[in-house]
Amino acid sequence: MTFPGERDPLRDPQKSEPTLFGTEFDFGGVRERIVTRDDFSMERARQVLKDETIAVIGYGVQGPAQSLNLRDLGFNVIVGQRPGNSFEKAREHGWVPGKDLFSIEDAIQRATQVQFLLSDAGQKERWPSIKPLLKDKGTLVFCHGFSITYKDQTGVIPPPNVDVVLVAPKGSGKSVRDNFVNGSGINSSFAVFQDASGIATERVLATGMAIGSGFLFPTTFESEVFTDLTGERGILMGAFYGLAEAAYNSFSHYMSSEQAIRHTVEIATQTISKIIGEKGADGLVQELPEELLSWFLNGFIAAHEASVPVFDDLYQKVVNGTETARVLSANSRPDYREILDAELREINQSELGKAGSAVRAQRVDGPTVSSRIQNREDAIMAGALVGIMHVQYELFRRKGHLPSEAFNETVEEATQSLYPLIDRQGIDWMYANCSTTAQRGALDWHGKFRDAIFPRLDRLYDGRFLEAEPSGVRGDILSSEMWKAGRTVRSLRPENRKLF
Ligand SMILES: NC(=O)c1ccc[n+]([C@@H]2O[C@H](COP(=O)([O-])OP(=O)(O)OC[C@H]3O[C@@H](n4cnc5c(N)ncnc54)[C@H](OP(=O)(O)O)[C@@H]3O)[C@@H](O)[C@H]2O)c1
Repeated sequence: MTFPGERDPLRDPQKSEPTLFGTEFDFGGVRERIVTRDDFSMERARQVLKDETIAVIGYGVQGPAQSLNLRDLGFNVIVGQRPGNSFEKAREHGWVPGKDLFSIEDAIQRATQVQFLLSDAGQKERWPSIKPLLKDKGTLVFCHGFSITYKDQTGVIPPPNVDVVLVAPKGSGKSVRDNFVNGSGINSSFAVFQDASGIATERVLATGMAIGSGFLFPTTFESEVFTDLTGERGILMGAFYGLAEAAYNSFSHYMSSEQAIRHTVEIATQTISKIIGEKGADGLVQELPEELLSWFLNGFIAAHEASVPVFDDLYQKVVNGTETARVLSANSRPDYREILDAELREINQSELGKAGSAVRAQRVDGPTVSSRIQNREDAIMAGALVGIMHVQYELFRRKGHLPSEAFNETVEEATQSLYPLIDRQGIDWMYANCSTTAQRGALDWHGKFRDAIFPRLDRLYDGRFLEAEPSGVRGDILSSEMWKAGRTVRSLRPENRKLF
């Protein structure tokens, strides 16, 4: 068996050169080409896709977002979904059986472009019946590098006469749709794995814009899946919950559960995430009151040191296929959704979950936390969150992933998509709006992060510094490539320009 990362060039199909498109930007000293709407307009996307019938296969989280965006933009789109709750959801969204809503196989037979948005376990199971139906010189679109990269586990090996491309939105399907509706778009990575038509790059860029992307940055299937699986188990979902639990469990010794939520989940999603999203952690540090700086830096050191070994273990298990084998097995069970839903209900009904709901309900009377970091507890939480972001970003860079991908997968997706979802309706609801691969992974990894971080944080909350005058850490944050890359990512947001 060849593991991903142990590339056999003779077995790997040709790749077209995606960097012919786009504009060069500086990401903290590394120059990368990004494709914005100025480089590739919606008119051009319409031109490229004008003769295509696009079948969106799967109506879980990602399928509705992409198909509804395509429909609203006037592309020729149909949906393929097996009978059951997701089929009924598609009907409720206005798709009509026999007209633009079909069985999976019927939809593929009608399509020139197939967007393969079944769960990753579903892709493996259904591939043998789908493969023979793909059109010569047609397009097979993935929004995750999973099935192709782990082909030894999934068996997904496309025929050579088909374009195989990737558009991976950096956010929940919920945000793909919400951002489209509010006109802003979402950042997506793109890749070409196989170019049978000679125009696969044009097709992937057109598809990226047409499903609701604001800008597109290049990746490979392998790089996308390594960073994506690590990120969702890490700071985007699993490590965030692990940190929240560690802090909450420590606080709840000496304050009420509602106060504990305010100093953990509430301050993180209401205040810290917003400051980082607007100004980066460099901006956050510069604004921090002098007397809170040591607490912030101690929080950083505590969470950074504690989470490094967990991330190293995680990344290794992603790359060597242990993690994907586990997910495929768990999510291939006929009752996979009931199992996930039951675990999400457990989070909702936990003491932390209930306290979160109670505090969110109080927002009718105004904000429940300050819009600035004003006390020791919140400074520790901010430091810990930034510390874990640094671990993940630094790991990605050490492993050769580019700054745009490392930043989007660590900070931009967190602050612009996932933490705002927690803020709206809690951790379990955010999880429910992510793929079942992400849910399974985050549910399995949050406890490892919690257990690693808890003893270090508990000591800090108890009033004891780990290091009285942390040397160099403030300077490291201010000068890091990560937050410089963040300035470029922020400058690419559409801000005052409506994209859709
Ligand atoms: N969700 C996100 O935010 C997100 C973001 C970026 C990329 N992605 C990627 O997008 C793809 C789809 O993600 P998702 O979140 O929409 O997926 P999901 O919630 O995990 O599953 C979606 C679809 O898969 C179907 N399905 C599962 N097992 C099946 C089987 N054995 N046979 C036929 N259909 C089956 C489901 O039908 P039933 O409902 O009938 O089970 C549903 O339509 C994945 O590759 C994911 O990694 C997702």
